Amino acid sequence: MRNAKVLGFESSCDETGVALVEVRGDEPPRLLSEALHSQVEMHAAYGGVVPELASRDHIRRVVPLARQVLQRAGCALHEIDLVAYTRGPGLAGALLVGAGAAVALAAALGKPALGIHHLEGHLLSPFLAPRPPTFPFVALLVSGGHTQLMEVQGLGRYRLLGETIDDAAGEAFDKSAKLMGLGYPGGPALARLAEDGNPAAFALPRPLLHSGDLDFSFAGLKTAVLTAHRKLGPAPGPAVLADLAASAQAAIVDVLVAKSLKALKLSGLRRLVVAGGVGANLRLRQALDAGALELGACVVYPPLSLCTDNGAMIALAAAMRWQQGLVLPQTDGAFDVRPRWPLDELQSG
Ligand code: KG4
Ligand code: ZN
Repeated sequence: MRNAKVLGFESSCDETGVALVEVRGDEPPRLLSEALHSQVEMHAAYGGVVPELASRDHIRRVVPLARQVLQRAGCALHEIDLVAYTRGPGLAGALLVGAGAAVALAAALGKPALGIHHLEGHLLSPFLAPRPPTFPFVALLVSGGHTQLMEVQGLGRYRLLGETIDDAAGEAFDKSAKLMGLGYPGGPALARLAEDGNPAAFALPRPLLHSGDLDFSFAGLKTAVLTAHRKLGPAPGPAVLADLAASAQAAIVDVLVAKSLKALKLSGLRRLVVAGGVGANLRLRQALDAGALELGACVVYPPLSLCTDNGAMIALAAAMRWQQGLVLPQTDGAFDVRPRWPLDELQSG
């Protein structure tokens, strides 16, 4: 067990996140301070993320945010033991900003730099919850680009149980929202509108619900939402749009819940950890909690603020790896932005 203060950088997409996490002995990791800048307003004008603008904004934000984090924690530069960054997956230019800042800082301080897989960051983020999980557990990873069920036996011991064969759950939210004219970012907007609607108003498909495996498919659902939306004519009223949003959300949630519960049954595990942006969805949380209760299982979520992209999850994953001696620090200044997942060298199941 090693003690460490870890400064983490996240810059894979449209959020610049920096955070300082401390690990001491057997104690749970502690988030000392964090800062986040969301580019949502900047990209909203374009209806989606513009990669070149994203990279340039990360460049503007990354150093001031790092200063803020250290200042808030009262931490001097020389007290940092390890610098972590998101190595992928993500937008190449955006990733390079965080990787560049982290590797340069580590080199200047003579400390190691560690590239963290973005999904491992999400997966471990519930360890910053007030009541963190213990291994082993089933993890439902639901972000904008991924939908996966993993069996997690321990740190770095991840076995893929099932994943989407086309669109991710977050993409289903985002694409449905876009075609309904709800703009970007679509997921939260669709979820908000759905609160005023009837989830049974439209009979939308539940793809692969009875496939017998743990894979997902959301591309057909998006097409079904598109077809239903077209049938509403050129200017549908707010009530019927809310019904469609609620129906789309219910279809996504039903499949995510059914497969997660099946993963618990098949693995014999009784703990489910939910991570990634879609994990912020309140209806998903309610349905998972209810389903898990029937199975005698528990569900752990990261704090709402840590569901979407942030620096804390990257600092946390690096800190946990450091604590367990599970790191291969790169002190030669080389960037590592390979999006391998699960990590080949540790996929022992
Ligand atoms: O994990 P994340 O911040 O970024 C990726 O790594 O992709 O996830 C972003 C995704 C987007 O698809 C967004 O629409 C979705 O999470 N999302 C939500 C909610 N908040 C964020 N989807 C449904 N309901 C929400 N409340
Ligand atoms: Zn993410």
